[in-house]
Amino acid sequence: MSNESLANLLKEERRFAPPAELAAHANVTAAAYEQGAADRLGFWAEQARRLSWETEPTQTLDWSNPPFAKWFADGKLNVAYNCVDRHVENGLGDRVAIHFEGEPGDSRSLTYAELQREVSKAAHALTELGVRAGDRVAIYLPMIPETVVAMLACARLGAPHSVVFGGFSADALATRINDADARVVITADGGYRRGKPSALKPAVDEALTRPGTENVRSVLVVRRTGQEDIAWHEGRDVWWHDIVDRQSETHTPEAFDAEHPLFILYTSGTTGKPKGILHTTGGYLTQVSYTHHAVFDLKPETDVYWCTADVGWVTGHSYIVYGPLANGATEVLYEGTPDTPHQGRWWEIVQKYGVTILYTAPTAIRACMKWGDDIPAKFDLSSLRVLGSVGEPINPEAWIWYRKHIGADSAPIVDTWWQTETGAMMLSPLPGVTATKPGSAQLPLPGISATVVDDDAHEVPDGAGGYLVLTEPWPSMLRTIWGDDQRYLDTYWSRFEGKYFAGDGAKKDEDGDIWLLGRVDDVMLVSGHNISTTEVESALVSHPKVAEAAVVGATDPQTTQAICAFVILRGSAAEDEGLVEELRAHVAQQLGPIAKPKRILPVAELPKTRSGKIMRRLLRDVAENRDLGDVSTLTDSSVMDLIQAKLPSAA
Ligand code: WT7
Repeated sequence: MSNESLANLLKEERRFAPPAELAAHANVTAAAYEQGAADRLGFWAEQARRLSWETEPTQTLDWSNPPFAKWFADGKLNVAYNCVDRHVENGLGDRVAIHFEGEPGDSRSLTYAELQREVSKAAHALTELGVRAGDRVAIYLPMIPETVVAMLACARLGAPHSVVFGGFSADALATRINDADARVVITADGGYRRGKPSALKPAVDEALTRPGTENVRSVLVVRRTGQEDIAWHEGRDVWWHDIVDRQSETHTPEAFDAEHPLFILYTSGTTGKPKGILHTTGGYLTQVSYTHHAVFDLKPETDVYWCTADVGWVTGHSYIVYGPLANGATEVLYEGTPDTPHQGRWWEIVQKYGVTILYTAPTAIRACMKWGDDIPAKFDLSSLRVLGSVGEPINPEAWIWYRKHIGADSAPIVDTWWQTETGAMMLSPLPGVTATKPGSAQLPLPGISATVVDDDAHEVPDGAGGYLVLTEPWPSMLRTIWGDDQRYLDTYWSRFEGKYFAGDGAKKDEDGDIWLLGRVDDVMLVSGHNISTTEVESALVSHPKVAEAAVVGATDPQTTQAICAFVILRGSAAEDEGLVEELRAHVAQQLGPIAKPKRILPVAELPKTRSGKIMRRLLRDVAENRDLGDVSTLTDSSVMDLIQAKLPSAA
C-alpha cells in the first residue's frame, strides 16, 4: 500500500442485537473486556486454569527475548489428558465426543470413554513404532475419527504432528515431510470425496521416493475405503488395525513443559517455500479453549457443535480437535463435500444431529446462496443458535443470507478473524454481548490487543484505513517458523517495530470497530486511491444477480491500476448486454464512482485454493494478459481455461 490511506468506501448500517435469551445466559459478558484490559496477563493466567495442569504455572508471559514468547513456561501438562481423560475422570465418559458422518452415509459416534481407549491404543502403537517425545509425525488422512485419534496420540506422547491436507499432492507432502524431518507418516488407503473413493496411500508412496524423506521409517495406514489395490512396502508399512487394535486400552500420559512443541502446520503464503508455523502446548490450549467457550457460547451439556473445516487447516486443529475437546464438547465430524450426494447434505446433517453451533467459511456460504434458498428451507434448522464464519472477509450480503436462511433471522453470527499464525481467534463479536454488523469482525477478543495503523505505524483514527497489527503477545501465538527464526522475524516483526504485522488491510469505522479488507497484496491503487478488493466484491455481491465476485487491479496507463471484476451470476440471471452496465452502476452507487470497475466479466467458476480462498494473483495474470503463474494449489486448474476462453484478446 502507498502512503495514501485505504479508502473507506463501504457504508453498512445494519445492526443486529444479541438475542435476549442468549445474552441473559451467555458464558461471557462485557465484563471480560474490562478484565482483559485492566490486567491482560492476569486475565490469561485465569483462563489457563480452565486446563488441568500437572504442575501449575507460576509465570504467565516471558517476553524477555521478543518476539520469542514463552507462556506459562514453568507449568507442565498433557494436551491429550486435557482433551480426553479428564472428562472421563469427571464422570462424562458416556458423553459423545464425536458424531462421525462419512460421505457415503456411514456413521458412528464415539464417547469420551471410547475416545480415551482409542487414543491410548494409538499412543502405544506409535511408541511401538519408535515414536518418542520430540519426534515429528506427518499425518495425511481424510476427515475420519482416526485423524483426531492420531493427532491426540501424538500430543499424548509429546511428538509434534504435521498434518498435511489430504487434497495436497505427493510433492507438497514430500516438501513438508522433509522440512519437518518426520519419522512416521500416518495415512489411509483413501477417503470418500464427491461420491467416490479417492486414494491417499499412493501419494505417500510417491512422496517417500523423493530426496529428503529417507528418515521416514514407518507408514501407518488406516483402512477407510478398502477398495484400493494398494502397494505395500514390507517392513515400512503397517495397517492401523493390525498394530493399534491389539494394544492396551490404558495409557499413562506424561506431562510436558508448557512450551513443548505441539504441532507444525504449513501455510503456503503467496510466495516462496511453505512456512512451518510452530505452536506449543500450554498457551495454545488455553486460548483455543477460552475462545471456543466464549465466542460460541458453548454449553457442553446441551450443544452439538459442528465445524465444517478440514483438519488439514488450522481451523480444524483449533476448532475441531483441541478447542472443542478441551471443553468437553459434543461435535460432528463430516468426511465429505457439501453437495454430495445432494446440495442439502449439510442441512440434512444439522437436522440429523440437532446441530446448535455451526462454524464455516464465506466461500461455502456463497456456494449455498448460489444453489438457492429453497435447499436449506427443506430441512429443520431450528436447533441452530450460533453461527460462525472464518477464512476471509464475509460479504455483507452473504452474512445476511447466512443469518436469514440458516439462522432463522435470529442466530448471532460471529465473524472470527485469525490466522494459522495466531493459532486461535483474535477478533470476533461475542454472541451475547455484541450488536453485530454484517461483514465486520469488529473487536479484539478479551485479552487481545489489536489495532489498525498507517504506513508510519501510527494508529489510524476512527473512520480511516491501514494495516491490522497485534500490539501485544497472546498465548496461542506462533513461536517461530520451524527451523527459520530469521524468517519469523522478517515476515511478521520487521514491518512495524514491536508489532505483529498480520498482512491484512483493515479499517476502523466511526465506532472504532474493525473491518478486514483482505490481504495487503489485494489492495488496488486507482488514481491515487487505495481501494480494497473486498469492498468492491461485497458491493457486487449485494446486487441480486451476483452470487460471487473476485476483483483485481490490472495495470492501467491512465489510472495506475484499473478495477477488473470476475462475477458468478445467480442461478436464473441472464448474461445480457445491459448486465455489465447495470453492475458497474450498482458499484458506483454503493461505493462511489472511483470504485466503478472498468471491466466486468461473468464467469462460471473462480479459481480457489483448496482452503477456499480466491487466487486473485491468477486473475491478475488473466486481466493483464500474462501467462499464468503456478496453478498447482488450485482445486481445479481447468477453471482458468474457462475464464481465459471468455476473454476478449486485449485488456
Ligand atoms: C488469513 C489467514 C483463521 C483460519 C483460517 C484461515 C483471512 C481469516 C478472516 C475473517 C477477514 C479473514 C485473513 C487472514 N481471514 N479469517 N473473519 N475476516 N479475513 O487461516 O489460511 O492462515 O489465513 O485469512 O486474510 O490473514 P489462514
